[in-house]
Amino acid sequence: MGKTGDLLDQGLLEQLDREKLPDHVAIIMDGNGRWAQSRSLPRIAGHRAGADAVDGVVTAGRELGIKALTLYSFSVENWRRPKTEIDMLMVVLEEYIHKELERMKQEDIRFNVIGRISDLPLPVREAIRLAREETRHNEAMVLTLALSYSARMEILSAAQRIAQELQEGSLSLEEIDESLFEQHLYTADLPELDLLIRTSGEMRVSNFLLWQMAYAELYFTKTLWPDFRADDLLRALLEFQRRERRFGIISQQLSDQRQSIGSLRED
Ligand code: IPE
Ligand code: IPE
Ligand code: MG
Repeated sequence: MGKTGDLLDQGLLEQLDREKLPDHVAIIMDGNGRWAQSRSLPRIAGHRAGADAVDGVVTAGRELGIKALTLYSFSVENWRRPKTEIDMLMVVLEEYIHKELERMKQEDIRFNVIGRISDLPLPVREAIRLAREETRHNEAMVLTLALSYSARMEILSAAQRIAQELQEGSLSLEEIDESLFEQHLYTADLPELDLLIRTSGEMRVSNFLLWQMAYAELYFTKTLWPDFRADDLLRALLEFQRRERRFGIISQQLSDQRQSIGSLRED
C-alpha cells in the first residue's frame, strides 16, 4: 500500500476493517512543550518536532481512506502565550504550509483552514491563500488546520449571522434548525465528526469543535504529539472500530438495523 504500507505495523493494519472507517477525524495535537522540556530543549524545538509529526499522520490518514482530517494547531486562547513563542510558532506554521504544498498537490489533498484567519500575521495568511487556491480541486482528503480557533466563537458567529439574516428577512424563525445552524459553522462543508483524538494525556477538549463533537467518539492517549506516528493513528482507528455507537438507541435496535440492511443487500 505504497508509502503508508511501510509506515504502518502490518499486524495492526490487518485488523482494520476498511468498511468501518471514520469519515472525519480531528486531533488536538498537544504536548509539544513537554516533549521539548523532557529533552532540555526550548519549547520551539517541540513545535518544530510537532510540525514534523503531522506528515506521517496526514499520509496515513489519506491512504487509509479517511475523508477529512482536522488538526487543532492554534487556539484563540494560545494568543495569551509569551510573544516570543507565538512569533516562532507562526514562522513554523508558515514554513510548514509552504513545505507541504507540493505534497498536498501530489497526494490530491485539499487544504482548508477554520478559525479567525484575519488574526494571523500576513505571511501566514498568504501561505494559506496560496495553499487553498492550489489545492482547491483536490478530492482524496480534506486537511483542515484550526488556526486562531475557538468553538464558542464559532458558535457565536453562526448565531450572529443567523440573527442578521433573520433581521434582513432572508430567513424565517421556522427555518432555523440543526441543519441550518451547521451550515453557518466553519465546518459546513465537512462530514460529521466521528472521532476526536487528544494527545499528551490531558482529558479536556479546550474549546475545540464543541458543536461537532456531540456524537463523536473520544480517544485520549498519553503519547506527546511529536511522538505520535501513523501506527498511533491506526491504534485509535482500531479502538474506534471496537466501540458501539448507539446514538441514543439500544444494542438490540442496532443489530436489527444491521440485519435489515443485510437482507436489503441480498435482495
Ligand atoms: C500543543 O503543544 C501546540 C500548541 C498548543 C500550539 P503545547 O505547546 O500546548 O505543549 P504542552 O501542552 O505545553 O506540552
Ligand atoms: C489546545 O492545547 C490547543 C492546541 C492543541 C492547538 P493547549 O495546550 O492550548 O490546551 P490547554 O491550555 O492545555 O487546555
Ligand atoms: Mg498544551
